[in-house]
Amino acid sequence: MAETDRTEGRQADLDGSKIDLQFDRPHPARVYDYLLGGKDNFAADRQAAEAGLRANPNSRTPPRENRAFLRRAVTYLAREAGITQFLDIGTGIPTSPNVHEIAQAISSQARVVYVDNDPIVLTHARALLATGPGGKTAYIDADVRNPDAILRSAELLDTLDLDKPVGLLLIAILHFVGDDDDPAGLVNRLLAALPGGSYLALTHLTGDYDPAAWEGVAAVYRRSGVIMQVRPKASIERYFAGLEMVDPGLVSLPDWRPDPAEVGTRPTDAEVSVYGGVARKP
Ligand SMILES: C[S@@+](CC[C@H](N)C(=O)[O-])C[C@H]1O[C@@H](n2cnc3c(N)ncnc32)[C@H](O)[C@@H]1O
Repeated sequence: MAETDRTEGRQADLDGSKIDLQFDRPHPARVYDYLLGGKDNFAADRQAAEAGLRANPNSRTPPRENRAFLRRAVTYLAREAGITQFLDIGTGIPTSPNVHEIAQAISSQARVVYVDNDPIVLTHARALLATGPGGKTAYIDADVRNPDAILRSAELLDTLDLDKPVGLLLIAILHFVGDDDDPAGLVNRLLAALPGGSYLALTHLTGDYDPAAWEGVAAVYRRSGVIMQVRPKASIERYFAGLEMVDPGLVSLPDWRPDPAEVGTRPTDAEVSVYGGVARKP
């Protein structure tokens, strides 16, 4: 697998195949990378991120809080719930610690399947496949709107034992899925393939606390051809239907099992504007 070839402009060479990185328009994974201070983004991504920051100057807070939630949720699942298999859909550009690094620090045998539909994430998949000894990871280039392709893929079936509980991670992805694609139905189909004792960890942007600012950000994405739909708490709760919520339920991210070791001032709910929760399939 070759590194991204930035000099070529639009394409990367991956195992001899040319991948169109679509530099001319912003991609959520690269905008998110820019907001986190990463370097895997291009002019169109930076322009969209800056326009988003003008619409909502707090736009850097949700990515930071999401990464912190991801760490706490995977730690909870690996340490307290005994989960050793993870399916992380909408994984994003690798950002350390990645899910397998968090899980394998607790259980060296942990296995992770990463899924994303962005070509830039595909070009970085090697960083996600550098698993620790004893564990296993795989990467699937697929779309959450086609759960059957994910669930039936050889990479997934080679890596996860679907007769044993799996931690399904849908972290900051479903606000990129419009109502027409029935996000609640997609979650149901994914969970239906997993046995009892599996878990769902999910976060989602909301306009509940600062509707005007988030409508402004969504409009920036829309102008670039990207669907971004913030949703009210009641809609996000529907993704957890039929599951047993882990305490403290679906809450503003900093309130989900805060880690006393994490220092810093708690951002306000309006600054965060993301709900997150973890739930168990009975
Ligand atoms: C905001 S990033 C979140 C990354 C990571 N989960 C985290 O929380 O740090 C959203 C990711 O979802 C991916 N994504 C968006 N729509 C998707 C879809 N329909 N299928 C698969 N991945 C998608 C994007 O490419 C991006 O990498």
